[in-house]
Amino acid sequence: FSICGTAFHAPKRGELEILSDALIEVGADGGIDQILKPDHPHYDERKSAARASGMLRLLGDGEYLLPGFVDLHIHAPQFPQLGKALDAPLEDWLQKYTFPLEARYSDRAFASSVYDSLVGTLLANGTTTAVYFATRHLDGSLVLAETCLAKGQRAVIGRVAMDDIHQCPDYYRDASPDEGIELSRQFIQRLRALPGNGKALVRPAVTPRFIPSCSDRLLSGLGELLEAEACHMQTHCSESDWAHAYVLERFGKSDTEMLAEFGLLTRQSILAHANLMGTSDFDLVQAKGSGVAHCPLSNFYFANAVFPLRRLLDQGLHLGLGTDISGGHSPSILDNCRHAMTAARALHDGVDARLPAARRGAAPARIMPSEAFWLATAGGGEALDLPIGLFREGMRFDALLVDVNAPQSNITRADNDGLPDIFQKILCNAGRPNITSVWVEGRCVS
Ligand code: GUN
Ligand code: FE
Repeated sequence: FSICGTAFHAPKRGELEILSDALIEVGADGGIDQILKPDHPHYDERKSAARASGMLRLLGDGEYLLPGFVDLHIHAPQFPQLGKALDAPLEDWLQKYTFPLEARYSDRAFASSVYDSLVGTLLANGTTTAVYFATRHLDGSLVLAETCLAKGQRAVIGRVAMDDIHQCPDYYRDASPDEGIELSRQFIQRLRALPGNGKALVRPAVTPRFIPSCSDRLLSGLGELLEAEACHMQTHCSESDWAHAYVLERFGKSDTEMLAEFGLLTRQSILAHANLMGTSDFDLVQAKGSGVAHCPLSNFYFANAVFPLRRLLDQGLHLGLGTDISGGHSPSILDNCRHAMTAARALHDGVDARLPAARRGAAPARIMPSEAFWLATAGGGEALDLPIGLFREGMRFDALLVDVNAPQSNITRADNDGLPDIFQKILCNAGRPNITSVWVEGRCVS
């Protein structure tokens, strides 16, 4: 089929590109075959042909096409906890609320009902790709993969490995390093072989929860598994004061250095948070080509620090956004774009007004709406090394339609709004009512 209308995307870091009245041709395999601008010699002819065959979607007034959003870090089992249990620091929150909840996913029916509702909610919010932590259960984690396949969401999914007897409760722990490694291996192999996953819409990730919850033997075994399986890897890295200090105390080295030593930092790795990394840690991440999932809303609750986003955008690290459900209480990547802009502003204008202005924040630290948008789309796609996040020939067609005139819209209209203004208004005020269609691999999924 073909879609004709105006699309916003950010093929380069922080640069908005507007495709006005573009004709986007999507192949039967779900890829973008060709994008024709109105001055293309065959534009009119191809548009008429698509219309004649009933395969043309012509966008109306107020409708705009955006690349699908990429959520680089989300805990699927924590969805029932969304919007509550935010009164404790990370180390207490895990023990008091989160481990008891995650332990319930030994129940397949419970897992299935939560994951069904979660994946539907994310798709309705325009999240076409999600990078999920599941739980430590093999079957329950496969249920998440089956749900994504059934609903058509692109995903990277990890069975969570965690065996440390000090940090993990008896009721929710891999019984030994060997068990943790073996269940992780089986998960990877079974996920790849799931019926309907021939095109690898859903991919596996080696997933040590974070260094504090894993023994040395588990971490080194997972490093070997990662090399053998050549898949993605995800973990939490230098998230909070407590987590960061715990690793320094245990090894005399940072999270990042230890992940590298265990063979866990690759081009396919996604590190969540990274708030307390030092300059040499960031250089190491960049040298390895790993990506960072910035989780701005969650960070307000758990991080004890503001992520230096401006600096890392300028440094050129692979970067994207994560909701970090339920540490973050919104399922929306658009919401997290807004929180990313707000957090950067806090650093820009000074985090401590008692200090002289010159010493408050670092250098100018704000980010632009086009940069938040890049993080949410092309940045996330690039971090995952997948052909998604922008409209270009050869990329997959993962997209959403925003209708600024939708009923219950918060987007205002002014007679002097140009397309860049409308883009900014979408980024600041579009919500679920505005997202009227969502496609993954060319398939309409919401
Ligand atoms: N660190 C270890 N586990 C978790 C988790 O579930 N959420 C967050 N935000 N940080 C973690
Ligand atoms: Fe997390």
